[in-house]
Amino acid sequence: MKVQNICCIGAGYVGGPTMAVIAKKCPDIKVTVVDINEARIAAWNDENVENIPVYEPGLPQVVAEARGRNLFFSTDVDKAIDEAQMIFISVNTPTKTYGEGKGQAADLKWIELCARQIARVAKEKKIVVEKSTLPVRTASALKDILEHTGNGINFQILSNPEFLAEGTAVEDLMAPDRVLIGGDQSEEGLSAINSLVEVYARWVPRERILTTNVWSSELSKLTANAFLAQRVSSINSLSELCEHTEADVNEVSRAIGTDSRIGPKFLKASVGFGGSCFQKDILNLVYISRSYGLDEVADYWEQVIIMNDHQKKRFAKKIIKNLYNTVSGKKIAFLGWAFKKDTNDTRESAAIYVADHLLNEQSKVSVFDPKVTEQQIYSDLDYLGSRSSEENKESLTVVKDPYKVCNGAHAIAVLTEWDEFKTYDWQKIYDNMLKPAHVFDGRNIMDKKALQNIGFQVHSIGSADDN
Ligand code: UDX
Ligand code: ADP
Repeated sequence: MKVQNICCIGAGYVGGPTMAVIAKKCPDIKVTVVDINEARIAAWNDENVENIPVYEPGLPQVVAEARGRNLFFSTDVDKAIDEAQMIFISVNTPTKTYGEGKGQAADLKWIELCARQIARVAKEKKIVVEKSTLPVRTASALKDILEHTGNGINFQILSNPEFLAEGTAVEDLMAPDRVLIGGDQSEEGLSAINSLVEVYARWVPRERILTTNVWSSELSKLTANAFLAQRVSSINSLSELCEHTEADVNEVSRAIGTDSRIGPKFLKASVGFGGSCFQKDILNLVYISRSYGLDEVADYWEQVIIMNDHQKKRFAKKIIKNLYNTVSGKKIAFLGWAFKKDTNDTRESAAIYVADHLLNEQSKVSVFDPKVTEQQIYSDLDYLGSRSSEENKESLTVVKDPYKVCNGAHAIAVLTEWDEFKTYDWQKIYDNMLKPAHVFDGRNIMDKKALQNIGFQVHSIGSADDN
């Protein structure tokens, strides 16, 4: 079947950019992205493409080219399902916050709602593609719901995990290392796989389009993220050892990264990894392993998360220790709140947890991030439930100017590696801070020597303090 009409349910960080690139590369395919969130759809349709709700370098240009031609954003979910031959599910699958599997299993509530809606609306055969990060065997649950509640029509379920990283989503989608498509190995399943292969083959070389059975595809997504997160936790574990010895973690990373078997990527020591995928995917891996009684496997992967939690806590503790073991009433300025640079996404950002720890110690935290809104910052903190909204508003302020945020601060904590932080007038910042003025560089992006020459006490990740 040649696909001419695609619908995507969920206009978030995955659905939005992915569909924009498919629409750009396939002008003859009508692509409709739907969402129940009206404000989000209105933002995707904003006349000024700079106002789309996902900040991603290069994305406004792609949307400007395709929107209104063959790319549409709408809240009419039923209509889009009805018209499409292929439906991507790209809704959120956060970790459960209640009941069985709380804190580990993914909450499939939204996926299930989508499946029921597709089953209700669809009048002719459809290919349903799971795009969201999902635990292994979700395809089988989807199939179950579609077959038992549908109108007796044939559904093929494909797993097509996204491998885009936020901040580089457009590049990753335009030139992916690989596209993975898993499906049933029956004749109909293989034909559905082929329909999706034909979409990607418009711009992705065939040898980079891998096809597998559905379980391998689902598990590969979790495994890829678990391996990447494991590298970060591995180097972070050594960063602590470096701080106690004369080794420097940047030098260790460079030295081991030149081994072609290891490679240089994902070896940057940091305040801890964040993002919507790493922790969630590992937790899914842990949960499914444990549910099969594979405790050693579960414990092995769980350690990656334990190390990451430790790294965030350790960073907050280091700030406290260097401010004479008390931050009560002291102003700590945060540069960055997003979980990495070039995105306005804050899910699982280390900054949230570091702030929470400092607020528990009665610190006054002041935050500046180039792209994250004030409302998002408060909602991230409120979500933890550590204190009331009013208390959070009282102890944490959001400032729109990087110089003002540092005025009168005892310390600056760099939580996100935004490029612009490196080019600020650091002398001016120093002049307006309390002394001794500290910089805690959670991303190792600052020029340590230059800051020390100004007079700052600089504390990096993975090297001993030499102030
Ligand atoms: C990740 C995967 O890379 C992507 O393939 C998948 O589809 C979704 O999950 P993403 O979460 O967008 O992408 O960001 P990524 O670049 O992987 O970074 C994750 C976290 O690890 C960030 O907080 C980042 O700052 C941190 N990180 C990354 C490090 O601390 N050190 C590194 O060397 C690399
Ligand atoms: P991701 O990073 O996986 O893209 P997001 O939270 O950014 O996650 O986006 C998921 C989107 O899916 C949200 O905008 C949410 O409103 C939307 N969504 C969730 N459930 C449904 C549903 N049943 N129908 C339509 N949209 C949905």
